[in-house]
Amino acid sequence: MIKFVSSNVHKYEEIDSMLKAHGIECSWVNMKYEEIQEDSIEKISWESCNRLIDKIDSKFFIEDSGIIIEALGGFPGPYSSYVQRTIGNEGILKLLEGKKRNATFVTVISYWDGHQIFQFDGKTAGTIATSIFHGRDFGYDPIFIPNGKTVPASLLSIEEKNQVSQRGKAMIKFIEHIKETEKEI
Ligand code: IMP
Repeated sequence: MIKFVSSNVHKYEEIDSMLKAHGIECSWVNMKYEEIQEDSIEKISWESCNRLIDKIDSKFFIEDSGIIIEALGGFPGPYSSYVQRTIGNEGILKLLEGKKRNATFVTVISYWDGHQIFQFDGKTAGTIATSIFHGRDFGYDPIFIPNGKTVPASLLSIEEKNQVSQRGKAMIKFIEHIKETEKEI
């Protein structure tokens, strides 16, 4: 059984839906953990995972995400959580008035398999909407329209979002890895 460590119920719901569809059991460790400040999501995620090794008694994974907005020079990126808590989606819409609205959402999964840390990433390009669309209000989803969709991710079901999302793409790589390594055992 793999443990997923996070205090975010939305992440858990999306991850659990994908793992279940592939017959993989996962238990949720609902826990906040310390995140270092760095300008790369990979480094933040790797370091957080490394610091959790002594605290979690089996295989586990975490994931870190960030939104990279082109017209803002890549901001907020690794500061996405802080920006969401401070200026929020309304603040982002104000900053983007009259600007190009391209953005990319990135997720990095860090997995401790009991011996080493593996990382898997996923990226989804999209655009920032011109207003807030309430629905499944997870972070930036009410303003992020993934390419190929006509509505923000907040209006997609969990399954629809997983098919196109950064997290869904990172999870596919992770699931392939788990299946491959299980074969070897
Ligand atoms: P973290 O990975 O929890 O540090 O997430 C950084 C910020 O991005 C937080 O404000 C999250 O709410 C937000 N976030 C993470 N994943 C998603 C997502 O899939 N959709 C929308 N917002 C997200």
